Amino acid sequence: MLSRQEAIALLSKYARGADWTKHCLAVAEATIKVGHVLAKNRSIDCSFIWSAALLHDIGRYMTHDPLLHGVEGYKLLSMLGYEKEAYVCASHILFGLNAAEARQLGLPNHDFLPRTIEEKLVPLVDYLIEYDQPTTLDRRFSSLRERNCGNTFFVDRLDRAQEIARTFMLQIEDEIGESVERIVAYQ
Ligand SMILES: [Fe+2]
Repeated sequence: MLSRQEAIALLSKYARGADWTKHCLAVAEATIKVGHVLAKNRSIDCSFIWSAALLHDIGRYMTHDPLLHGVEGYKLLSMLGYEKEAYVCASHILFGLNAAEARQLGLPNHDFLPRTIEEKLVPLVDYLIEYDQPTTLDRRFSSLRERNCGNTFFVDRLDRAQEIARTFMLQIEDEIGESVERIVAYQ
């Protein structure tokens, strides 16, 4: 597994200081904040969530396509032997892809659904950060719909992604007794 330093080095190597890495860092920092609150009641791999969150968008070094950047990140990190983090790159897209969707996008022919609490936290927090600023799930999804209105494959699946994100967020809020949007928003 990647250490924080290795994850940072990998992102700088491929992103070369590009602006979008501010989003990656913001998502990593916010994910760890939620992770620490959850860790009071359950075991959670905080080191993994930080690195996986930092690298979830590494595929943007190749493309900013809302679907394919996840595929590129998956290919890169798999090739480098970081299977767990690679899985997050693919499964953060639309909060999970079924096998047919994965195949259509050029991924291996199986489901890429976030399975563990760690794998689910990264896409949830990703949907709570617009660029490098905290937002709400509703605002983030409206913005995604607007920005990607020409991409029907993506937009047609946003309702499903929003519902999965919302259900997961309510589930962990039930567990911790706090608003996840508020944890992400407060410094
Ligand atoms: Fe992404």
